[in-house]
Amino acid sequence: MRRISVELGSRSYSVLVGSGLLGGLGSLLRAEGLKQSDTFVITNAEVGGLYYEKVRAELAAAGFRSVVRHDIPASEEGKNWEEFSKTCAAMLAAFPDANAVPLVLLLGGGVVGDLGGFAAAVFRRGVPFVQLPTSLLAAVDSSVGGKVAVNFGGVKNIMGAFSQPRLVVCDLDMLRTLSPREVRSGTAEIIKYGAVCSAPLFEQLERGDLEKLLALDTDVLTDVVAQCVQLKANVVQQDEHDKLGIRNVLNFGHTIGHALELSADYSLTHGEAISIGMVAATRMAVKLGLVGVDFEHRLFTLFERAGLPMCHADKPGLFDRIVRAMQMDKKFRDGKNLFVLPTDVGAWAPRENVDWALVHECVRGVLA
Ligand SMILES: NC(=O)c1ccc[n+]([C@@H]2O[C@H](COP(=O)([O-])OP(=O)(O)OC[C@H]3O[C@@H](n4cnc5c(N)ncnc54)[C@H](O)[C@@H]3O)[C@@H](O)[C@H]2O)c1
Ligand SMILES: [Zn+2]
Repeated sequence: MRRISVELGSRSYSVLVGSGLLGGLGSLLRAEGLKQSDTFVITNAEVGGLYYEKVRAELAAAGFRSVVRHDIPASEEGKNWEEFSKTCAAMLAAFPDANAVPLVLLLGGGVVGDLGGFAAAVFRRGVPFVQLPTSLLAAVDSSVGGKVAVNFGGVKNIMGAFSQPRLVVCDLDMLRTLSPREVRSGTAEIIKYGAVCSAPLFEQLERGDLEKLLALDTDVLTDVVAQCVQLKANVVQQDEHDKLGIRNVLNFGHTIGHALELSADYSLTHGEAISIGMVAATRMAVKLGLVGVDFEHRLFTLFERAGLPMCHADKPGLFDRIVRAMQMDKKFRDGKNLFVLPTDVGAWAPRENVDWALVHECVRGVLA
């Protein structure tokens, strides 16, 4: 088992990465200092159907008094205010006593983690929660860092909070039931880390570990997930609340990617949408002279090898919807856009006020 520490003073926590961690989960939680007696497990039918019973049995064996399950829909479409509200109502129904502090367990991918984490962050002004990421994307990215949110009014993650988990337990065995499409989707965030945060990781993927990841090779998976978590921890430790611009690095490909994700009516996974977003942002960086075509070629080759899309079928009205959604981006200030652009393998720079004509050209370029 690998342990990565996210050092945030009183909000510090560990991310445990390894195989077989679900067996003995209850005693692991106790050993990590979680003393609550009641638990509330947020999951969905798909993931809960596979792993809830194991989680319940492990918690019961470790002496947790009650284990209550709540399911949300198994897709981005369900990451909304109504489901958030239903989740809060279910927590209140399960724990009506004003002094009850259940431990919330988030068993699922990024949708469960984001929505469930937000519910835990606001229920009784915050109850402790543990992330149990079950998708590759959640393992390397969304389960760490404390950004919890739901989509609202056609904007991604616009209602949310910063609330750190008490612990993240990433049992890599659970990734084995993911569909190949969801595994590929997770590699998009991994390629992102390599492209703008870590040249060694990028080169490791180029040397053949990308294919080993896609095949869920245990050693490569353990190593790469731990590296990504460490990279994310380094960024979050410097800019927990996204105030200094440092955390923006994690948004490479996300400005256009998020806008596309919502505008394409949930036909793309998050990872697919952000790979297309990274393609558009990279072309922007090349046109602005920030990075050479060699970088573009190397990055696009990785996307091809991972089977990730680099464009999306155009439809009437899609371009306008993307541009409208993009203008709501949280990074944009006073009418000025802000893009996270690559400058070399493992390096990036923010670029403010990019000519809208160029932005539009790059969006059109990924609509085939
Ligand atoms: N909070 C953050 O910092 C952060 C970072 C990156 C992404 N995100 C968010 O994460 C979300 C995407 O997460 P995701 O890609 O995990 O999507 P997801 O949660 O929708 O999971 C993808 C699909 O895989 C299924 N699944 C998950 N684990 C499984 C398993 N072990 N076996 C079988 N099926 C499984 C799910 O039921 C779902 O159908 C987006 O909403 C995105 O905005 C948040
Ligand atoms: Zn992302």
